[in-house]
Amino acid sequence: MRKKYLVANWKMFKTPRQAREDFLTLARGNVQASSQTVDCAVAAPTLYLSELALLARSSPLKLLAQNCHWASEGAFTGEIAAPMLKETDVRGSLVGHSERRQHFGETDETAGRRVGALLRAGLEAILCVGETLEERKAGKVEEVLTRQLTVAMAASGLRHRFEVEGANAQSPLLALAYEPVWAIGTGQAATPVEAREAHGCLRRVAARLLGAEFAERLRILYGGSVNPQNVASFVSEADVDGALVGGASLAPESFEALRASCAR
Ligand code: PGA
Repeated sequence: MRKKYLVANWKMFKTPRQAREDFLTLARGNVQASSQTVDCAVAAPTLYLSELALLARSSPLKLLAQNCHWASEGAFTGEIAAPMLKETDVRGSLVGHSERRQHFGETDETAGRRVGALLRAGLEAILCVGETLEERKAGKVEEVLTRQLTVAMAASGLRHRFEVEGANAQSPLLALAYEPVWAIGTGQAATPVEAREAHGCLRRVAARLLGAEFAERLRILYGGSVNPQNVASFVSEADVDGALVGGASLAPESFEALRASCAR
C-alpha cells in the first residue's frame, strides 16, 4: 500500500517573511495528525532552504529543493549540489520540472543525472515528466513518457534497485510526478482518466526498468492545476499516489484543504 504524498511547489514565490510564516503555519498545522496516511512536503526557493530547514526539524513536514546539480561540487555558477542540500537537512529535490525544461534547457538526460546525484547522496528525487499539448494531440503520450523515464534512468547511472530505494523501502527515494505541460498553471487539469492512463504507463515502464516489485512501491504524483476541489478525484484513482501542486499550494489554508482531501 503506497502512502499518499502531497508536495507544494512554491516556485519563485513568497518573500522571505511570507515563506517563514507560511512554512511555520503548515509545520505546526495538521501534517502531524495525518502523517500516517499522507506525507507532506514543500519545495521552496533555494535562498530560503537553510532557514526553513531549522523550522522543519521538529515537524513531519518535509523540506525539498526545486533543483539540484549532478556534480558534488564544481564551477557551476548558480547551481546547488546534493551534498549541500544534505548538510542543510533538506530531504531531496524536484527534478526536470517542465519549467526547467522549457526555460532553462533541461533535458531528459540532465534530469536523469540530477536524479542520480540526489539518490546517491541518500536524498529524495521527484522526477517530473509529461507531454506537451502537441504531443498529446499527436497521440504520443505513451511514447513521450516512456522516453522521458527511460532516458532519465539511463542517465542517472543507477543500475541497482536498492540505489533507487534508499533505506525506507516502503517509500522509495525516487518518486515520479506526471505533469502534462498543458495543464500546469492553466486551470485546465487533466481528467482523472487521463491521469490514470499516464500513471499506468509510467508504472509499466518503471517495472520494465527496475522490476515489478519496485514499481509497485513507486509513488507517482499527478500535477497540473490541482486544487482543493479536484484533488480527491485524482488521488482516488488507483495509480495516483498524490499531487504536486503549484498555485493552489501557496496559501496555507488551501494547502491544508488539499492535505485533508489526501488524508481521507
Ligand atoms: P500548478 O503547477 O498547480 O500551478 O498547475 C503545478 C506544478 O508546476 O508543479
